[in-house]
Order: sequence, then structure tokens, then C-alpha cells
Amino acid sequence: MLAPEFTPKRIAGMAPRIRELVDDAVDRLLDAPRPANLHRLVSRPIPSQVICLLLGIDYAAHELFESLTERLLDMTTSAEAFQEALRDVEDFIRAQVAEQERDPGDGVLGRLLVERVRTGQLTHEQLVGFAMLLLIGGHETTAKMITLGMLTFLTEPEQAERVRLRPDLMPGAIEEILRIHAITDLTVPKLAARDMSVAGCPINAGEGILPLTAAANHDPDVFPDPDRFDPARGDRRHLTFGLGVHACLGQNLARAEMEAVFSALLRRVPSLRLAVPVSELEPDRNAIVWGLKDLPVTW
Ligand code: HEM
Repeated sequence: MLAPEFTPKRIAGMAPRIRELVDDAVDRLLDAPRPANLHRLVSRPIPSQVICLLLGIDYAAHELFESLTERLLDMTTSAEAFQEALRDVEDFIRAQVAEQERDPGDGVLGRLLVERVRTGQLTHEQLVGFAMLLLIGGHETTAKMITLGMLTFLTEPEQAERVRLRPDLMPGAIEEILRIHAITDLTVPKLAARDMSVAGCPINAGEGILPLTAAANHDPDVFPDPDRFDPARGDRRHLTFGLGVHACLGQNLARAEMEAVFSALLRRVPSLRLAVPVSELEPDRNAIVWGLKDLPVTW
């Protein structure tokens, strides 16, 4: 039911609006005192604005759901606080659904209400679940990937210049950024459906597995010289979006957001640079989705 919302055609239709949102965010960055925090000013607002656009909900609520999803994806959140955040997100979505019942918008929520809920193919609760999946799955992941992607460009100025002069290399640069950072390393626990052996290690049917995507993405047998950021590598076999029927549904939307931000920043702020040494950047160690807390930049 959700797949038609993520077809390449649908995503291409959203691209002009995404570029406008990015241009506004870059304007705000350029108006901010230096050093400015690129993570807060660009990487976080873009995915939340895009999800509001996708779902057809009011962007005014973005700060609320940003803080809620942050709590949900923080490994130090207690079980009680987790349940509370979950309830708050659910209440927020239920209110949005109730509002759209009276007046369906032209986003995913409105469309599913008219085409699926009113026709009896989807219950209200399932619709709330869908919306939660999109809110939680599409926000923090993309924000962190944008920040780490910019970190890569800022620490690899020669490659950044190469991509700036040859925009046809941007799709390859995005795949490399996704591959190298593998931010979803811990998010795809699996259950072995049959007995197997991986790299000589026997795994029995029914056993739980935490396949570490970062290790797979740096496998030298698949990606020679795996730590090198090479926009021309042209290999999309990384596992950052998972694999199989449940691989990330929003991956083309995430790529479109990354493309819009990286292209705008490389083009509009060629003098952009880190405001602190890399060693002073603070990783968000408690988050399930790997990333940085802040990215101080200047230009
Ligand atoms: C760079 C950003 C993103 C990363 C790294 C990412 C990563 C992932 C991963 C690893 C999975 C699990 C795959 C599996 O179980 O094998 C997943 C699932 C999913 N993602 Fe993403 N994601 C990103 C952005 C998005 C966006 C923007 C959306 C939508 C707005 C989204 C929606 C979903 C949904 C709906 C699923 C569940 C698919 C299913 O169970 O069938 N993701 N994502």
C-alpha cells in the first residue's frame, strides 16, 4: 500500500519542492553567526520537512516529533520513557489522522484514508502504524546521513571538488557515503530461516543474528580498498538500506534529499569547512542510528 508513494516518478515529483526547502535551509545557514551547526540548521530540518510534506501534515509540529523520535532511538531511554514517547508519537499521529478525516490532505495520510481506510482495506490503527513507521524511520536516519555525508566532503576536499565539477559523480558519491558510514549497523536483527555457514561460522536455523552492516560494507573482497571514498566506484551493493523484501522503502527519497543538500552546499558555499578538528566532533554514542550530535562549520 505504501510502495506507490515511493516510486521513482513520485520522488522525482517531490524533488523541486525538496530543492526549495534545501535552498531556504542553506539561506538560514548563511545568515547564522559563524561557526554554525550544520546538523541543526540543515541536516535535521530537511528530513522532517520532507516527511511532513510526504504525509501531508503540518510542519509546525516538527519539533515535537523530532524530540520524540530522538528519545525513541536513544539506547539510554528507560523502558518507561520509551513507552511514554511511543504513546506521545501515537497520540500526535492519531490527532493528525482525526483532522484529515474531516478534511483529507493530498499527502500519504489523506490518500490512504480515502483510498484504503474508507474502503475497509486498512484500519485506523494500521494507518497510525504506517505513519509512525515513516516518521520514525525516515527522519533521524536521513538527518544523520546528511551530516556524515557533509563531513566526508569536508574531509575529502579533492573528491568534493571533483564532484562539484562533475555533478554526474554525485550519485556515486552518495552510494559511497551510505556504504562507508553504515549508520544502521545495529538496526536489522534477523532470524536464521535455515542452517547456514557464514565465513566459516555455523549458524543454525532459529538462531538470532545481528549482521553488522558496517563490516559487510567494508568487506575488501567486495569493495577493494574499502576505506577509500571513491565517487567513481559505482558499486551499490552496500547494506545500509537492508536487503530483501523489507529493505528500506524510503531509500530513493533519502537519496533525493542527500542529493539536494550536497549539491546545494557544494555549489553555493564552496568555501565551507569544518570549524573544529575532526577529533573534537562528538559521536552520538547512545543512538541506535549512528551519527554525530553536531557539525560546526564555517565558510
Ligand atoms: C539515509 C536514510 C535511511 C537509511 C540509512 C534507512 C535505513 C533503513 C533500514 C536499514 C531499514 C531496515 C531494512 C531491513 O529490515 O532489512 C529501513 C526500513 C524502512 N525504511 Fe528506511 N532508511 C532511511 C531513510 C528512510 C526514509 C526517508 C523513509 C521514508 C520516509 C524510510 C522508510 C522506511 C520504511 C517504511 C522501512 C520499513 C520497510 C519494511 O519493513 O518493509 N527510510 N530503512
